[in-house]
Amino acid sequence: MNPVDIITKKRDGGELTRQELDFFIHGVTSGAIPDYQAAAWLMAVYFRGMTDQETTDLTLAMAASGDQLDLHDVLPGAIIVDKHSSGGVGDKTTLAVAPIAAACGLPVGKMSGRGLSFSGGTIDKLESIAGWKGEISEAHFRRQLQEVGLVIAAQTANLAPADKLLYALRDVTGTVPSLPLIAASIMSKKLAAGADAIVLDVKCGRGAFMETLPEAQALARQMVAIGRLAGRKVTALITQMAQPLGLAVGNALEVQEAIATLRGQGPADFQELVEVVASEMLLIAGAANDRARARTHVSQVIADGRALAKFRAFVAAQGGDVHLVDHPERLPSAPVQVAVPAPASGYVHAIDAREVGLVTVDLGGGRLKKGDPIDPAVGVLLRAKVGAQVTVGQPLCTVHAANAGTAAAAITRLQAAYTIKDDPTPDLAIVLDRIGGD
Ligand code: URA
Repeated sequence: MNPVDIITKKRDGGELTRQELDFFIHGVTSGAIPDYQAAAWLMAVYFRGMTDQETTDLTLAMAASGDQLDLHDVLPGAIIVDKHSSGGVGDKTTLAVAPIAAACGLPVGKMSGRGLSFSGGTIDKLESIAGWKGEISEAHFRRQLQEVGLVIAAQTANLAPADKLLYALRDVTGTVPSLPLIAASIMSKKLAAGADAIVLDVKCGRGAFMETLPEAQALARQMVAIGRLAGRKVTALITQMAQPLGLAVGNALEVQEAIATLRGQGPADFQELVEVVASEMLLIAGAANDRARARTHVSQVIADGRALAKFRAFVAAQGGDVHLVDHPERLPSAPVQVAVPAPASGYVHAIDAREVGLVTVDLGGGRLKKGDPIDPAVGVLLRAKVGAQVTVGQPLCTVHAANAGTAAAAITRLQAAYTIKDDPTPDLAIVLDRIGGD
């Protein structure tokens, strides 16, 4: 077997065998297959797709590319729950959901990624908190899960290293929005990290990699099937990503919004999504008998401060400055903050979430090349969402930029990202479908 034959076979639309996928993923992980061949193969998969069998085999090969955690010795008898998003704009859901679920008594041990194309990444966001480290050892992961009940780690500790390598390549080679690559990326991490039960938040719309409901449903079904095959309980929620989630887009801005949400003061759509996903985690773990009771428990831990206390303990355990949790206004903030005026009066009908994400990347909040540094302070704070009535000149959003030049370029693009019409339009639904579960 050699990598060129495997690339060529996929380029020509062939179906790769389990042995070929194992060989290729092993080569990527060991470094025997260089980035340029891996990138060519990713592009072939992007154009040719994969059968369900290939996607499952790829996932299992990626999950087996490093250690596979069994966390039951740390927490005997416990059901370890995880959640994962397929990626969106303003998607800081993990930052709020994970502490809420942990405060409800569910151990959450989670591996998260960095920004991918126009979508942000949980690890980049958390790194806005001075001192916080996602790159922790497996021993640290286990100890923290036991002591704090919540750990969010970057892809180190040799968990799914093949995904770490391919993820960084996909981000900069235009090969992110591929159903088999997304399914294998997400599920390989979930299987390797040893969760028993997984809630998948599959984003759908312009700010997601799956733009239409049928595409999002296909991705959700595939991931639920892979999880079940591997003996895990999996539910997928398909959720709204036509417009940015919440109001904040950009790393430190999103951490601030997540902290507000842990206090019960998040923007309506984000607060709702967070509480729905956390409730689903309680349900899938068997910690609540029905959705209404799960929701009540979630509301309680937010109202009585336990969710925020859990976030604080988690930040401290991973070396972060907890004063920033109590004073989020001290998180990195951009030197230039400029309002974007509405070009016309009317109702906001659409906000091109992808463009808002790309503007944020160009402001310095994401990467254009592998390993680029991130500016945690930059981003966009929305002030009008779909359904809002605006008058000409009123601020649609605020650009947070490193300098006046990047801010000016962002303003024009953000004005164009808003569609304003004369007639009113309703707010957008948050949960579009649920696949798997009860
Ligand atoms: N999240 C992941 O972990 N991988 C993807 O490919 C997309 C979103």
